Parts: sequence; structure tokens; C-alpha cells
Amino acid sequence: MKNEMTRLIDRLEAAHHLSAEEYTFLIRHRSPEMMEYAAEKARRIRLERYGNAVYARGLIEFTNHCRNDCLYCGIRRSNLHCQRYRLTSEQILECCGIGYELGFRTFVLQGGEDPFWKDEDFCTLIRQIKELYPDCAVTLSLGERTRESFQKLFDAGADRYLLRHETADEAHYKKLHPEEMSFSHRMQCLRDLKEIGYQVGCGFMVGSPYQTPQSLAEDLKFIEEFSPDMCGIGPFIPHKDTPFGSFAPGTLEETLWLLSLIRLMLPHVLLPATTALGTIHPKGRELGILSGANVVMPNLSPVSVRKKYELYDNKICTGDEAAECRGCLSRRMESIGYELTVHRGDVRR
Ligand code: 5AD
Ligand code: FES
Repeated sequence: MKNEMTRLIDRLEAAHHLSAEEYTFLIRHRSPEMMEYAAEKARRIRLERYGNAVYARGLIEFTNHCRNDCLYCGIRRSNLHCQRYRLTSEQILECCGIGYELGFRTFVLQGGEDPFWKDEDFCTLIRQIKELYPDCAVTLSLGERTRESFQKLFDAGADRYLLRHETADEAHYKKLHPEEMSFSHRMQCLRDLKEIGYQVGCGFMVGSPYQTPQSLAEDLKFIEEFSPDMCGIGPFIPHKDTPFGSFAPGTLEETLWLLSLIRLMLPHVLLPATTALGTIHPKGRELGILSGANVVMPNLSPVSVRKKYELYDNKICTGDEAAECRGCLSRRMESIGYELTVHRGDVRR
């Protein structure tokens, strides 16, 4: 078993691809010893490509209104306990200002699919950010839109777009989403974003309900073929007011294992140690970095709304000011021999 596992890990490192069956085998037979074997290689690869810098992105969660009803998500439209909020453009620009002062050179605008925000509003906001902070990258995470809309936002100056594919297994996708959402549309969005010229991020949750080793292998196969610039993966964490409220969360170990495998597959990829990973374990983000991740995304949203952007229960950092999170993450990264850097941090293909 051990020989077969090391052989597959070595081959993934050398060739950057495996078959779905081989990924399934790796996922099934994870062990502490193999995790360390893969993590050591993953650290070496990211060190060669990115040094010991960990890129920080300032995350602005600007609306929790959402027209979607994903079964796992705390801000789904059916959750009547969710207190809805929406930042104004002025408030968002204020967050950028605070972030800029703290050194951030990437702003991530993330929100639910909020019909109140029209293309033109986004375009104006993006132009304003770019005018005020021309040395900054603007990353959007606004969910599914039309190709025309993606194009307009790109033309207004947006650089990157994050849209997790959530699962590459269509049958699994149907179990996580309501009838009216479509797997093929989500995948089409990712292809459109790439064709338009965005730096694109996909990603998925680890340990989501009904996930199997085969569906995870399909995620890896999809990521291999799509070759994203960024890949967001974090554990599923139940939210009490959703249909999945009593499902078990994803595990630290499986998330770390997948982070290492993705680093071996895509040496260039920008791979965040997510807030969800920091939520399921006090040292989750540090362990993520030590498994091959190279990005963290501290929150720049006003503390007054933090608790309301609750995709899952017990989310960390909801009471901390942006400056506190920045300081905290700097210390955390230093404690493991890495350095938090705030510059744009573009992908190095
Ligand atoms: N647990 C973990 N991650 C979640 N997301 C949504 N709900 C949850 C949850 N309960 C993730 C989804 C989404 C991203 C913004 O947050 O993958 O794409
Ligand atoms: Fe937010 Fe530690 S990163 S308090």
C-alpha cells in the first residue's frame, strides 16, 4: 500500500496528472505518514515558486442578500433567521481605504447573488477603486452571471473572479442545490470567465453532504483539466438554519491532504488556507500553509456586519477589526517561518 501511494504521489509531482481511479485511490488511502510525505513535497514546490511569502487578500463581504437557495449555505434565501445587510458603494470604498492603509493590494468583493446590485453599479465601483488605487487588483466573487455581465465587469477593470464549482460530479451537485440551479450553467460561467481573460478561481468544499471519494476524484480531475489560477477549498461546516444543519463537518486531515495534492498537481496555483479551515481547528490556517497553501484572506468588512455574513456556524474573526486580523495573521505566519505579504500577488505560471 505504502509503495503504491508513494508511487502515485511521485507521479503526480512529476507529471501533474493522474487518472480519476488513481485520485480515488489516493483519497481512500490517506494516512498520517502519506500526508507528511505529500506535504513535504508541496512545501518544497511552493517555496521554489513563491518563496516563503504568503499572499494576503482583503475580503469585503458587501451583501448577504442572495437569490439562491444552496442547501449548505447560511445566507440562502430560505433562511429567514438571517439578518440581511448590504453595504453602500461608499462603505465599500471606505473598507478599501482602510485596507490600503494596512498595505493590502488586492481587494476581494464577495457577496450573495443580490439582484439589487446592477452591472452598472459594479462597473462604477470597480472604476472608482481602480482610479483611487491603481496599484491594486480587484477580485470579484459575485456568483453566476451572464457572459455579457462578466465582460462588462472585466472591461471596467476587474482582474480576477472567484466562482467555486462546488462539485464536479453532476449527481452530487443536484444533492447540494435546489432544482432551479444548474451544474452546466456554473461550469459555463467558469469557461466564460477564463475566455474573457480573468484570472479565475474555482473550488469546492471538503466533506460536503453526500460527497464520495469518487466525487472528490472528479473535482481533482476537473481542476487538473481546467488549470485555474486560484483554487479555494475548505471544509464544509454545517449551519444550524439550513437543511444540512445536522450533517458532520469536513475534516482537517482530508482538507490538508487535498491541499497538498492540488499543490503537486498545479505548482503555480494560488491556494488559500481558508477561514473555514481556521474555524474547524485553532491552527487550521497555519497547517494549511504547511500543507502547500499560499494565500490567506483576512476580512476587511465593517465589524458591524461581520457576524451576519455567516455561511456556516462559529465563523472566526467576526469580532475583530481589519488591523487586528492583519496583525494576527502576520504573527501566525511568522510562527511557522512564513511571511505575510500584502502586494498584488499575481499568479506565477
Ligand atoms: N461550509 C463551508 N463552506 C461554505 N460555503 C458556503 N456554505 C458553506 C458551509 N456551510 C462556501 C461555498 C461558497 C463559498 C463562498 O463558501 O463553497 O462558494
Ligand atoms: Fe482575524 Fe486572527 S485573523 S483575528
